[in-house]
Amino acid sequence: MKIIFFALEDWQKEYIQNNDILKKVNIEVMFVEHPLTRDHIPHQTDAEMISVFVNSNVDKEVLNAFPQLRFIATRSTGFDHIDLKECAKRDILVSNVPSYGANTVAEYTFALILTLSRKIYQSYNQVRETGSFQLRGLRGFDLKGKTLGVIGTGKIGRNVVKIGKAFEMNVIACDTNPDEEFAKEMGFEYCEPEKALEEGDIVTLHVPYNKDTHHLINKNNIQRMKKGAFLINTSRGGVVETAALIKALKDGHLGGAALDVLEEEGVIKDELEFLVEGRLEDHNLQTVLANHVLIDMPNVIVTPHNAFNTWGALERILDTTAENVKGFIEGKPENLAE
Ligand code: NAI
Repeated sequence: MKIIFFALEDWQKEYIQNNDILKKVNIEVMFVEHPLTRDHIPHQTDAEMISVFVNSNVDKEVLNAFPQLRFIATRSTGFDHIDLKECAKRDILVSNVPSYGANTVAEYTFALILTLSRKIYQSYNQVRETGSFQLRGLRGFDLKGKTLGVIGTGKIGRNVVKIGKAFEMNVIACDTNPDEEFAKEMGFEYCEPEKALEEGDIVTLHVPYNKDTHHLINKNNIQRMKKGAFLINTSRGGVVETAALIKALKDGHLGGAALDVLEEEGVIKDELEFLVEGRLEDHNLQTVLANHVLIDMPNVIVTPHNAFNTWGALERILDTTAENVKGFIEGKPENLAE
């Protein structure tokens, strides 16, 4: 059987080639530089298995190009970049990496929170750009005693709760599937999403992106957030309605935002290519423009979907991906995305 890995760095290719698990299963491994999208279908499409990251977009048209495809190993936790319904229709199984980054993304969430709360970027930039050690405009606020609203207490969210508790924050959380035992153990309370929005000085999002969480934070509920509150999004761009966020920031209702993910972030990544080769009709250009407005706002931090990006996390991703491939080949598929 053949597997094509898309968009791996050189060290990752080497890691895969030297992986003991993959050496033992009888597969032909191919690498393709680009992420897999409709506009980047490789010449060879006879693979039974592919492995992609979130920068690929495996939609119906892409699936049509791989007639022998039986298995997709996504090297990510989220799988909203793969059309699962189409895969199911074609009996293509999809495995994800459920837990490589629970601590990794939670740590990054606090890096974003502290960057906002202590104006780390402005402080660094001022010293670097002007050499000035003046403190005017650099005063922040303590996290201790502030209320942290955590939306989604799965693997990442629960690590965020733990770190918030270590900062002696007042944690409240909501989840469609609450873990009361964990809440008792950590000393926090589950609440309705509205309460987390109304009472959170900082609200942080850790839900998967799907039809139920599309624009979970939207023009109807963003105004319920506390005046001056901060919104942190390391989940997926589509969980927040970009236009509503911009309005709340512009009106001064929100104090700031830190966003590791954006709606239409794929376009922002390579706008030149998008303009030359992209399909404009497939994208919301107003959101693309709105992203630029967000990036320019002084109280907003945008990072390039970087929360997962540590050496440890990337190695864990590759290890689990190898296990997933082995599981599929041996007829015992693991970590199926559903
Ligand atoms: P998880 O599946 O362990 O936890 C998600 C939690 O959200 C679950 O407890 C679920 O019950 C809850 N939930 C689902 N819908 C909800 C709703 N409408 N309201 C409240 N709670 C809801 O997932 P995990 O590992 O914690 O990851 C969360 C998301 O973070 C991923 O789906 C992915 O999109 C994103 N992520 C982002 C990364 C980055 O680099 N920025 C890296 C890894 C994950």
